[in-house]
Amino acid sequence: MNTVRHLLELRGGFTWTIDPQSSVYEALRLMSDKDVGALPVVQDDKVVGLISERDYARKIILRGRSSKDTPVHDIMETDFPVVHPDQTVEECMELMTKRRCRHLVVMENERMIGIISIGDVVRCIIYSQRQKLSQLEGMTLATQFLVL
Ligand SMILES: NC(=O)c1ccc[n+]([C@@H]2O[C@H](COP(=O)([O-])OP(=O)(O)OC[C@H]3O[C@@H](n4cnc5c(N)ncnc54)[C@H](O)[C@@H]3O)[C@@H](O)[C@H]2O)c1
Repeated sequence: MNTVRHLLELRGGFTWTIDPQSSVYEALRLMSDKDVGALPVVQDDKVVGLISERDYARKIILRGRSSKDTPVHDIMETDFPVVHPDQTVEECMELMTKRRCRHLVVMENERMIGIISIGDVVRCIIYSQRQKLSQLEGMTLATQFLVL
């Protein structure tokens, strides 16, 4: 079964975060430098929000605000979606569809252990479907072999 824990292990890497007092501009700079679309907002080792490129587009650009003068806490999502590492990737896809979001924060024992994106989830589902297909193809070949 494809779990979030498995996905995180496969993806590896560091989880980039930002603090709520930083400016939105600093958050965007970090997202661009690290090539990611969202950052968990962390204060005193606790996740207090999530900021994404979408928040920037909708809450800064469209409202004519300045990213350099706006702190992250002003526009971050505080009701961000969370998953447990033992949940399945399919459950994540359902949650992303239901909440219309592209990132999920992964929490275990009240501690953040990572973030996953829609790209990770889609990649994982495609990979596991390909595996199932090739298993089925293998079975079909084996069946044909037995019939001959
Ligand atoms: N190279 C890869 O392994 C990979 C994985 C997923 C997506 N992508 C591509 O990136 C583009 C955008 O992807 P997306 O919409 O899924 O979102 P995204 O740009 O936020 O995610 C890209 C990758 O960065 C990771 N990531 C996101 N936020 C992070 C953070 N704060 N700290 C550490 N890692 C973080 C994600 O888990 C994902 O693996 C798409 O074109 C997609 O195809 C590449």
